[in-house]
Amino acid sequence: MPAKSRSLIVGNWKMNGLRHSLTEIAHVARGYDAKLRHSCDLIICPPATLVCLAAQQALGSRIGIGAQDCHMEANGAFTGEISAEMLADCGATTVIVGHSERRSYFAETDGDVKSKALAALRAGLMPIICVGETNSDREAGRTLGVIKRQLVGSVPGSADAGAIVVAYEPIWAIGTGLTPTLADIAEVHRFIHRELAVIFGTHAAGHGRVLYGGSVKPSNAESILAVEHVDGALIGGASLKAEDFLGIARAAPARV
Ligand code: 13P
Repeated sequence: MPAKSRSLIVGNWKMNGLRHSLTEIAHVARGYDAKLRHSCDLIICPPATLVCLAAQQALGSRIGIGAQDCHMEANGAFTGEISAEMLADCGATTVIVGHSERRSYFAETDGDVKSKALAALRAGLMPIICVGETNSDREAGRTLGVIKRQLVGSVPGSADAGAIVVAYEPIWAIGTGLTPTLADIAEVHRFIHRELAVIFGTHAAGHGRVLYGGSVKPSNAESILAVEHVDGALIGGASLKAEDFLGIARAAPARV
């Protein structure tokens, strides 16, 4: 088995968190000790209202702060929107794009997601591009076909392959407590790595990390993070409490 890359553990707070919630980030920073820093990178994506404050607070901690979405344009008459440049100006290093909640509630297409990923790169942010199948896709045996269509449509193949992260989040596993079998996670991650190599024209490990997301908790993190081709996790509910988030990070295998 090839050596695993350093794990990337990302918290997506979704529409949760007020200023007092920044104490959770301070708590994570205290727990991100030398041992943990050796095995994994940590990024927390609070709501947009907290990105600036969180980035200031995380200074010197080596915890990255990210956002959950961005607009594709750098500026202009787009009332209510936030550009990747504005997020970078706030101190963000990362932005999640194409989360299934944005794809379904805000009708974002693969083309929109690719434009947002390109906007993130233009602003110097690392895009985390989300893909994942619905339960009906899964039951109909369409998982790999859906993932391939989303990857081809959403991942900008012209970009630097190493600058992009992909998150595989089966929609039916998000917030439900359900997870795919480890064999299913391994199969989809192997497939995603292979497709990214085709999209970028790279070989083997030439592209960025592929994260698993969907009901990851301290109790299942060790087995999921040990799966071949799983390079980290994107965590929703369990990222809201520092101890749970740290518990997941501590489950990451020691890496070379
Ligand atoms: P949960 O960890 O709450 O299932 O959410 C996963 C997710 O959507 C992260 O982006």
